[in-house]
Amino acid sequence: MDAILSVRDLGVRFGSLHAVNDVSFDAQRGKITAVIGPNGAGKSSLFNLISGAIPPSSGQVLFEGQDVTGASPDQMLRSGMARSFQITNLFFELTVRENLRLAAQFLEQGRGWLRPVTVSTRGMARVDELITQFVLAAKADELAGYLSHGEQRRLEIAVALAARPRMLLLDEPTQGMSHADTKETETLIRGLAVEHGLSILLVEHDVDLVMSLSDYVVVMHQGQKLAAGTPAVVRSNPKVQMAYFGEHQERARCLN
Ligand SMILES: Nc1ncnc2c1ncn2[C@@H]1O[C@H](COP(=O)(O)OP(=O)(O)OP(=O)(O)O)[C@@H](O)[C@H]1O
Ligand SMILES: [Mg+2]
Repeated sequence: MDAILSVRDLGVRFGSLHAVNDVSFDAQRGKITAVIGPNGAGKSSLFNLISGAIPPSSGQVLFEGQDVTGASPDQMLRSGMARSFQITNLFFELTVRENLRLAAQFLEQGRGWLRPVTVSTRGMARVDELITQFVLAAKADELAGYLSHGEQRRLEIAVALAARPRMLLLDEPTQGMSHADTKETETLIRGLAVEHGLSILLVEHDVDLVMSLSDYVVVMHQGQKLAAGTPAVVRSNPKVQMAYFGEHQERARCLN
């Protein structure tokens, strides 16, 4: 086993609410690890603690053996961990290529950070590579704001990968997507891990997606880790069925 990320007894309080309560798990290198749980379970809070967006009240985050607890998102990116948010962070008034150029500027740090990326061959090569890899050539000169929802989420992942991270954190990458776009994103994420060896931590609501995509699943419920294991192990856990799938099935029954 080769853990790229270790989360140890991580917690955060918002006033009296213990949004994340003593959560521990490892994410293995080159694998897809998913965090699932119902609304308000603490998934995004956990994601924000790991990626450095909010400081933890307790616990530790280790990335490649280094203690990165409380490091800023920028420091995390420098260490090799990139993230894509539940809420979009694209510049809608810029083109696809310009969004990627901005993100690729990171590759030039320490080599003239303020140098325009247009004259940086390294950054330009990365932009071209991402446009091809993410099948965005036909849209390269369109404003990001005019892309379809699925294309925007695809571009966001491309933006997160511009700095060549070794680990990618994704918060609900298929939120609001059509079935076809979800399937496409699933294939894309799997390809990043299997073909490119990227380690992925995914926070996701869509149980079916998580079960078919992940190597390892952490189930959150009311801020705590309820269970963890392979998709098959987690799915057959009675506590999980009660707290999560039970609730889903109940909701599905109510909807039908
Ligand atoms: N900045 C904050 N201040 C106060 N309370 C917060 C804050 N962020 C989250 N919470 C609360 O913490 C709990 C966990 O929220 P969180 O967003 O982490 O859940 P989630 O599992 O991501 O939910 P969803 O599936 O809806 O995205 C919720 O009760 C939420 O209202
Ligand atoms: Mg969330």
